Amino acid sequence: MGLTLTEKILKAHLVEGELIRGNEIGIRIDQTLTQDSTGTMAYLQFEAMDIDTVRTKCSVAYIDHNMLQQGFENADDHKYIQTVAYKHGIYFSKPGNGICHQVHVERFGIPGQTLLGSDSHTPTGGGIGMIAIGAGGLDVAVAMGGGTYYITMPHVVNIELTGKLRPFVSAKDIILEVLRRLSVKGGVGKVIEYTGEGIKHLTVPERATITNMGAELGATTSIFPSDEVTERFLKAQDRAEVFTKLMPDNDAAYDEKIVIHLDELEPLVALPHSPDLVKAVKEVAGQKVDQIAIGSCTNGSYLDLMRVAKILKGKTIHPEVSLVISPGSKQVLTMLAQNGALADLVAAGARILESGCGPCIGMGQAPATDAVSLRTFNRNFKGRCGTTSASVYLVSPETAAVSALTGVLTSPLENGDLDIAVEMPQTFVVNDNMVIKPSEHPETVEVVRGPNIKPFPLNTVLETCEGKVLIKVGDNITTDHIMPSNASLLPFRSNVPYLANFCLAPCDLEFPKRAIEQGGGMIVGGDNYGQGSSREHAALAPLQLGIKAVITKSFARMHKANLINSGILPLVFENPKDYETIEVMDELEIPEVKKQVAGKERLTVINKTKNLTYTVKLEVSDRERKMLLLGGKINRIKELAKR
Ligand code: F3S
Repeated sequence: MGLTLTEKILKAHLVEGELIRGNEIGIRIDQTLTQDSTGTMAYLQFEAMDIDTVRTKCSVAYIDHNMLQQGFENADDHKYIQTVAYKHGIYFSKPGNGICHQVHVERFGIPGQTLLGSDSHTPTGGGIGMIAIGAGGLDVAVAMGGGTYYITMPHVVNIELTGKLRPFVSAKDIILEVLRRLSVKGGVGKVIEYTGEGIKHLTVPERATITNMGAELGATTSIFPSDEVTERFLKAQDRAEVFTKLMPDNDAAYDEKIVIHLDELEPLVALPHSPDLVKAVKEVAGQKVDQIAIGSCTNGSYLDLMRVAKILKGKTIHPEVSLVISPGSKQVLTMLAQNGALADLVAAGARILESGCGPCIGMGQAPATDAVSLRTFNRNFKGRCGTTSASVYLVSPETAAVSALTGVLTSPLENGDLDIAVEMPQTFVVNDNMVIKPSEHPETVEVVRGPNIKPFPLNTVLETCEGKVLIKVGDNITTDHIMPSNASLLPFRSNVPYLANFCLAPCDLEFPKRAIEQGGGMIVGGDNYGQGSSREHAALAPLQLGIKAVITKSFARMHKANLINSGILPLVFENPKDYETIEVMDELEIPEVKKQVAGKERLTVINKTKNLTYTVKLEVSDRERKMLLLGGKINRIKELAKR
């Protein structure tokens, strides 16, 4: 039986495990990317590994998320990222150069390579034939240090595209159709692999629109083959030398197969507040629209904006609509400026924003109260746009542009006689002067750390484990309880010592103070402790406060993994009733902890205050056990790097 393209690339990068569905496999990462919102922490983690230069083939630090500089915090982060990148062999893409995923496909992506990015839309790189996966900052830091990345071997779903899209129906409508069929959970544990005659008619930026929004399916990633279309794109980007032809085998065995006939598709829209609430535009046509935003890593390409410019040329935006456009990259903006399309957009009444994420991440352009906003972006969760009462509809650039003229949600098919065909340029304008190459003399580079940049907390090798119970909480404690992330705390994501002052404060305001006074200790929790997000800070803040172990009735999976990464023991009561016997300030000890952790799944804990003995479970893999003994993932990578 032949191999899928996914299997071929994973096989070529396999470091540990076997390509058996559901098994854990370790793969080598060729490229990494970070954006500023997650990057600051990723680079602090990388620095903590004491590795001089990144060990990837190419690592790039982008600034695209938090571009507003209303205080010193974001600017401090940008300066830190720029200098840390310069010192450690990382390319730096300046603010204004564009959105990480778009620029990465244009200037750095290489077919057949693996890319790990600290942003959930990293799968955009699948448009150019990469296995591109979004991950936490620590995973990306580890990959930069040459560490293996572990995933569960995914199932591979084949989506065969047949036929050709009609004018005014676009790549966005293809991925909305996939979301309509599979839902936001339909891709979990899967890679979506696109094949079929229909892909020949899709350019790389259009393929990237589809793989980008594959993230909304919950998929590990999505991928297109690398074919003559990819070759033409790379040639036009003056990067023909990185092209490799990559196809699945003819007899590849897929776990599922879906067929989409492109010529039958029509313009689609995702209704508030989920990307899979998809309907035909004609079914919702007539809905009054207040704001329209075009751009983002999903639809900010040259082709997207040229089509918009053609629709708007010589016309005027509806008086009650505010239209904002953020080009995906400096390259796109330059080309629009040079060929006059930018003038057409401005003349029609569009507001042009800088090349960055902007409104997609709620950085400006929050809609009015109860407003309807039509966006070409990938997410429409309640409140993400900055206004909780607003309703965000997700559409293609063509639907957005036509609706900007009418003031109501309008199917672009109504403009059927307008010619909006845009050819892929033979050559893109290539000017990488906003990409700073790594220093040739890194030893002379000083990393600039503004007051908001504090060292990453690092655990020590596990020797002893004793201390007081500093807090006892109930069931279903979320990562939001453990490390609140409100607007006033967000700018301090690179300042764990400051954030730690708010750790578990929603449960007990005095906890951080008590932990500092006691020089650390333990946390006791109920069922499902740490549910919610994958927020690393929910493990880093307790680490900063000296927490050595968390003993609960059960853990949420991602938080448990983050505790292990931080070298904090995640222990579960064998007898849940033992929970009742523990009180705050009880003195606990895990005797001979090193020996117990190294060899056993059941550990003994002594409650010295109550003169009781408990049995707790430590359910971890061998790899995780090693991490715990060394005091966390970073220490483990440091050790591996020395070998
Ligand atoms: Fe930026 Fe929005 Fe994409 S925040 S990376 S444009 S999903």
